[in-house]
Amino acid sequence: MVYKTNIRPAWVVLVLLMIFTLAFTLVKTSDTTPEKKVQTEQIVPTQIDLSKFKNAEENEKCLKCHGQTKYSYENAESKKTVTKRMYAELIMNRDVFYVSNHRQFKCTDCHSEDYGTFPHAGNLRMEAKANCIDCHGGDEKYAKYKFEQIESEFQASVHSETHSKDFTCWMCHNAHTYKINARTNENLKETIVYDNLICLHCHGDVNNYQLLTDKKKPNLLQKHEWLPNQASHFTNVRCIECHAKNEDTLVVAHHIMSKKNAVRKCESCHSKNSILYASLYKHQVSEVIMKEGLVKGLIMADATTIGPDKSNTLNIISIIIFSLTILAIIIHAVLRIKKSV
Ligand code: HEC
Ligand code: HEC
Ligand code: HEC
Ligand code: HEC
Ligand code: HEC
Ligand code: HEC
Ligand code: HEC
Repeated sequence: MVYKTNIRPAWVVLVLLMIFTLAFTLVKTSDTTPEKKVQTEQIVPTQIDLSKFKNAEENEKCLKCHGQTKYSYENAESKKTVTKRMYAELIMNRDVFYVSNHRQFKCTDCHSEDYGTFPHAGNLRMEAKANCIDCHGGDEKYAKYKFEQIESEFQASVHSETHSKDFTCWMCHNAHTYKINARTNENLKETIVYDNLICLHCHGDVNNYQLLTDKKKPNLLQKHEWLPNQASHFTNVRCIECHAKNEDTLVVAHHIMSKKNAVRKCESCHSKNSILYASLYKHQVSEVIMKEGLVKGLIMADATTIGPDKSNTLNIISIIIFSLTILAIIIHAVLRIKKSV
């Protein structure tokens, strides 16, 4: 009899907690959705709350000069404050840096502490910079990015260091602005533009191109004249779609082949077996693709085959089951203790 009266309140509590958990989970998910959206839309926010970055204050010591078009310093001999114009290529944008992958870094994590004094010592110019693989290689935390495989694809690519010693990963991944998109950004157009601008930094700019080679820069528009609706193709498809060898195991293919191996056949994309399924669209949710209307008809035809499955509902259910199991165990324990007292 005692046993029976004990179990009843337990069930009441359990049901109440179940409702509570369900309500809580639903409120939480509806809360986070708009927040996520804002984040992906703001590739370049205009205002940054610097208090969120533990090294921001320290970095201002550098950015008071490198974040401005003008800088001032005290001349050691005359003791007068001199104001000069900062070299355009040495100016950094805080807004872009503080959304980049390495936003939590101190400038001096990658640059010598000796930059703390100005004028900077001349020998600092020869300072060797760490490469991606020096920090990310063999690290479990970044295993999903497959840095080692990217490294070997890069070595085999037209740009590799064997082609020109000055060509490093940093040439495409700007140290102060690079931010992952293809993997995380649901806005396909943004990713395409972002990725293509990386290539156009050199292939669309004589000065940057000529820093690396004496060969004359080919005219990109002329070289792609065979492609109809060129402007539309350059904004709707990534350069790497035609120029990089696609491996299923990488989110972003890095083996850029010589021009004779580039994709030229229209059917490669404009067909049921579009190569775009294996690369560009692989990591995008199907609704986004539908909204963007890329390669319209064909995507519609087998929309169900692309994009990850909708695991959100499953996630919620598994969270609920997990919390309820824990609660049941706690209640059980409490009742047992009560009983034994
Ligand atoms: C008083 C202004 C001032 C401050 C403060 C300052 N810099 Fe500089 N920095 C310059 C100027 C001007 C140059 C270009 C002339 C030179 O190389 O000395 C430069 C050049 C550089 C270069 C490029 C050298 C090259 O390869 O040509 C780097 C890297 C650099 N600074 C990093 C830093 C870092 C990191 C800090 C903070 C720890 C910092 N600077 C603080 C004014 C400043
Ligand atoms: C993740 C590493 C990293 C961080 C963090 C970093 N830098 Fe750099 N920085 C580099 C590399 C690598 C280069 C050389 C890029 C190249 O060779 O093209 C560079 C180049 C520079 C240059 C030379 C001009 C240029 O853009 O090539 C300046 C100036 C500079 N950094 C200042 C800063 C300042 C100021 C900060 C902090 C706000 C900072 N860096 C943070 C890695 C970093
Ligand atoms: C000096 C060491 C260092 C170098 C050099 C470096 N990284 Fe990083 N990187 C880190 C660390 C540490 C983090 C984690 C930062 C954090 O969690 O705030 C990171 C974060 C990242 C992320 C985001 C990871 C995530 O899941 O959020 C990417 C992508 C990345 N780095 C790519 C690169 C690439 C590409 C290069 C070379 C062009 C490079 N890194 C060079 C240390 C480095
Ligand atoms: C020719 C230009 C180029 C070179 C060189 C290059 N990358 Fe990339 N990389 C890209 C582009 C474009 C992306 C796609 C960026 C995005 O949208 O996320 C990318 C993305 C990445 C990513 C993120 C992939 C993911 O799974 O989300 C990593 C990590 C990376 N590169 C590492 C490297 C390393 C390491 C090197 C040097 C060994 C290197 N990259 C050299 C162009 C380049
Ligand atoms: C930092 C400058 C730079 C960036 C960024 C860059 N390239 Fe290049 N690229 C070059 C240079 C320089 C050459 C010529 C190399 C040589 O032959 O000396 C080249 C060569 C090529 C070639 C080979 C052409 C041939 O003759 O076979 C292709 C294709 C190519 N790039 C595509 C790309 C793509 C796609 C991207 C973006 C993912 C990209 N590049 C980013 C500078 C760059
Ligand atoms: C639809 C496929 C496609 C797209 C998209 C594309 N290319 Fe090409 N590209 C080609 C083909 C095919 C060639 C070879 C043309 C030839 O040899 O006449 C080529 C040639 C080139 C060359 C070599 C020019 C030369 O003759 O030396 C470069 C560099 C290049 N493309 C860069 C780019 C860049 C950068 C982008 C993105 C803005 C891009 N391509 C987009 C297919 C494409
Ligand atoms: C690398 C993939 C790729 C290749 C190769 C390619 N296309 Fe496209 N094409 C696209 C994408 C993506 C679009 C954008 C479609 C959209 O907006 O729905 C497009 C758009 C077009 C459009 C405009 C359609 C519209 O509605 O605006 C035409 C026409 C076209 N392509 C013809 C061709 C022809 C002809 C070839 C061969 C010479 C070719 N394409 C090669 C991917 C490709």
